[in-house]
Amino acid sequence: MLAELQPGQCFVDAFSGSGTITENVPQDHRRIANDAHRWLIAMWERLTTTDWQPPTTIEKELYDKVKASWRADDGKYDDATIGWIGFMASRSGKWWEAGYSGHNVKGRDYIAENIRNTTKQIENLKGVEWHTGSYADLVIPPNSLIYCDPPYRGTSTYSVSRDFDYDAFYSWCRTKSAEGHTVFVSEYSMPPDFTEVWHKSIKTTLNPTNTFSVTEKLYKI
Ligand SMILES: C[S@@+](CC[C@H](N)C(=O)[O-])C[C@H]1O[C@@H](n2cnc3c(N)ncnc32)[C@H](O)[C@@H]1O
Repeated sequence: MLAELQPGQCFVDAFSGSGTITENVPQDHRRIANDAHRWLIAMWERLTTTDWQPPTTIEKELYDKVKASWRADDGKYDDATIGWIGFMASRSGKWWEAGYSGHNVKGRDYIAENIRNTTKQIENLKGVEWHTGSYADLVIPPNSLIYCDPPYRGTSTYSVSRDFDYDAFYSWCRTKSAEGHTVFVSEYSMPPDFTEVWHKSIKTTLNPTNTFSVTEKLYKI
């Protein structure tokens, strides 16, 4: 994708998640990152635009309190704090559904590891324009490079990704391409009018005892 990114072209990460793609796009490009997960985006926005020092010790008691507040939607904690606690202290950097990971589990401090990895990303994500909402509602500057990493078909485990309408997504990609944008999609398979431009076999894991290989593919339309 970077080889195709033209000088001055805007990079739009329509499903930015943990930000690992956008952080690798040179900062001299305008970068827009969007995700439907509003707490995650609030977390990134605050981390990259202020000198926020979020808690680095997250005991189970605080985790449970914030989780209960998120569930009840009672406004006791702001979105960025909910995002931080939920992502830094849930297993595998996932969301509340995955459960509390812990500071001291058989000699490993999972929360500190997560915080270290996230903190490393902040510098490269400065300057990103953050949006939250559906990809379909994004206002995209003319002639952008749009990268889409939607929830993989058939593997959605996050509440925010259930009921994703794939046909509507394919149509949106076609429309954006017709409007003059360059559209890339990460998926395992796509309809035939999308061209596979790259693939790589990777090991993935559902849990520590279940590792398998899948072929990640990048498509373009
Ligand atoms: C496969 S993940 C993206 C991973 C990302 N590339 C990364 O490096 O972490 C899919 C993301 O799509 C988001 N999502 C689900 N439905 C969405 C929608 N309609 N619009 C925008 N984002 C959505 C989820 O919150 C999730 O973060």
